[in-house]
Order: sequence, then C-alpha cells, then structure tokens
Amino acid sequence: MALFRTSSLLSGPLEPADPEEAKKTPITREEIALVHAPRGPIAEQFRSLRNSVQALNPDGAPRTLVLTSAVAGEGKSVAAINLALALTEVPGTRVLLVDADLHRPSLEGYLGLPRRQGLTELVRGACPIDRAIRQTSANNVWLLGAGELPQNPSELLGSERMRTIIAQFKQRYTYILIDTPEALTISDASLLGAQADGVLLVVRLNATPRHLVEQTYNLLEGLGANVLGTCLTGAGIASDGERYAKR
Ligand SMILES: Nc1ncnc2c1ncn2[C@@H]1O[C@H](COP(=O)(O)OP(=O)(O)O)[C@@H](O)[C@H]1O
Ligand SMILES: [Mg+2]
Repeated sequence: MALFRTSSLLSGPLEPADPEEAKKTPITREEIALVHAPRGPIAEQFRSLRNSVQALNPDGAPRTLVLTSAVAGEGKSVAAINLALALTEVPGTRVLLVDADLHRPSLEGYLGLPRRQGLTELVRGACPIDRAIRQTSANNVWLLGAGELPQNPSELLGSERMRTIIAQFKQRYTYILIDTPEALTISDASLLGAQADGVLLVVRLNATPRHLVEQTYNLLEGLGANVLGTCLTGAGIASDGERYAKR
C-alpha cells in the first residue's frame, strides 16, 4: 500500500513564493509578544535573550542559531519569531527565519502566510533563493518556509547542499534562526545544531521534566553542538525570564 502525506494530497504541489507577497500581511497572533504586547514582560524577556545573544557576538558577525527543545510544543517556533523581532530592534540587524521543522512546520502559520515552496525545494535545487525567501511585514525579518515535506528530512538537512545554502545565508543576514523539531525524538535538530554557531534550548516552564532537558543538553553537546543556554517560555514567567549561561 502506498502512503501519501495528507498535506500534499489535499493541497497539491506548493507554489513558489512571491518575494513581495508577505510584506503586506501584518503579524496578528497573540503569541508574538513583540508585536502584540511590545511593552509587556514577555517581550522584555526576548529582548533580554537578544542582549545575551549579542553579548556573545560583540563583533556582530553573521551567526546561525538553532532553536530546539526536548519534546514537542514547548514554544520553539513562537520563540524563534519573537527573538527575530527582538534582534531586529537593533539597527542594521537582518534576520532570516528558517523553518527546518520538516515534520510539523509552523512559521508560515504563525505569520499568517500561505504555505509556499521553501527549504526543501531550495536544497533540492528546484527553486531559486529569491523565490523561496519572503520578506515579512516586520522590518528586516525574512522567512524561508519549510516547503514540501520530504520523505526523509534528515537526508535533506544533512546534505552538502544544505551547508552551502547556510553559508550563502551568512553573506546576506546577520542572524539565521533555524526552527527545528524536538531533539529527543527526531534527530534533525542535533544534525543542524552540530553545524550551527549556537543552539538555544527552549524549555516550557513547569512543564518539561528537568531530566529530559538535561538529556537533550547532553545529546546536543555530545554531538558537538554549542548549547548557548535555555529560553524559558510559558505563561506567568514574568519574574523569572530566561537563563542564559553556559553550564
Ligand atoms: N509565549 C507564548 N505565549 C503564549 N502561548 C505560547 C507561547 N509560546 C508558545 N505558545 C503556545 O504553545 C503552543 C506551542 O508553541 P510552538 O511555538 O508552536 O511550539 P513548538 O514549536 O515548540 O512545537 C502553541 O499553541 C502556542 O500558541
Ligand atoms: Mg514548532
């Protein structure tokens, strides 16, 4: 029996992105604190995370950062968008958000954009960079969506071409934020984390068991990733914020 992914059956092949189409779509989701409540405590926490990221990179050299977590649903994708917006509050900072969660992509959804060709097609050489990346309505934030979901994401993400593409991104953007699936059950985040300049471990407060966070940390570091610290997410985190220290 042949198995097909429901998404491609229902929607057909994805169209290439119009690089201009996203510029007029405002970001409206409540989770995106930098837009929805820019003076609130959650936005401030992302600014503080931004400051920590920048403090580790005083020269402002182009950097790739992977966001991952131990288990699903901890707030990686939302954190990636908030961090992108916080980073671009600093003049001259250009951020590319990459949806490398080829199992459950969500960045386009959070930004209110239609699914288009993206990372998969770019790595396969089926779509040029200018038709895969869209400028968003947020100043200096660009998006590379996931594109078609491949049968074997790890093969694609671990390919030589993926490395070449990331090197190209570093010539154009200051920060490349790579959203990935959870690290404990899917190997993609470890694969990308080992290649990136740094990894941020997203942890939902009072939800993720501590031993799973430690297991994830050890897994990533064991594979050569540079885990910069944790980004704590979840309601009511105002007084705590994110810790950001290499252990
Ligand atoms: N800062 C936040 N405030 C409110 N809800 C959030 C926040 N971060 C994440 N969420 C919610 O948690 C769920 C999972 O978030 P998401 O970023 O998609 O997780 P992941 O990418 O880790 O799977 C979503 O329903 C999202 O709306
Ligand atoms: Mg996600």
